[in-house]
Amino acid sequence: MDRTALYAGSFDPLTLGHLDIIERAAALYDTVVVGVVANPGKSSLFSLDERVAMVCKACEGIANVRVESFEGLLADYVNKNKFDAVVRGLRSCADFEYEMDMAHINATLYDSAETVFLMTKPELSFVSSSMVKEVASLGGKIDGFVTEDIKNQLINKYGRNN
Ligand code: COA
Repeated sequence: MDRTALYAGSFDPLTLGHLDIIERAAALYDTVVVGVVANPGKSSLFSLDERVAMVCKACEGIANVRVESFEGLLADYVNKNKFDAVVRGLRSCADFEYEMDMAHINATLYDSAETVFLMTKPELSFVSSSMVKEVASLGGKIDGFVTEDIKNQLINKYGRNN
């Protein structure tokens, strides 16, 4: 039986930390769907189309990854598509408390999906989309945190030559 996992997030923008989780989930599941949230609680720098396009490009070498977008409640999207697992990356103990609460709430909402945690690579454990945006906006180097394509898109957005 084919097993499909969802990896959901706002990906504003996708970081190499996210990509590491996607690659490792793709090695564990038959198919991984990267679900880009259309209406994140936070206001986004990149439009939904831009975020989807950057995830597609970053994942083009991973055969069993598909990129979609969704809006509304995560659990509704999970149940509708009958995902077997919802993969979450854990970067630190600070992530754990929030993630545990979310996993518990979602367990009451999912028909049958399980939340599965993958530990982020230690060398990427401090990377977040906000941090990357802040450094890029102030002209700092973001090599090693995002792909070359996304680095260039950030430079274009902020109009700086970093
Ligand atoms: N590497 C790098 N950064 C990571 C990471 C990793 N492995 N894992 C998480 N992060 C970062 C993200 O970049 C993000 O950083 P930011 O706050 O600077 O943007 C932060 O950690 C939080 O990430 P995440 O928990 O994935 O939040 P999200 O907003 O991107 O998406 C959803 C989380 C998809 C669960 C949530 O937004 C959602 O589903 N919304 C729909 C409404 C809903 O159902 N809400 C109830 C959920 S119980």
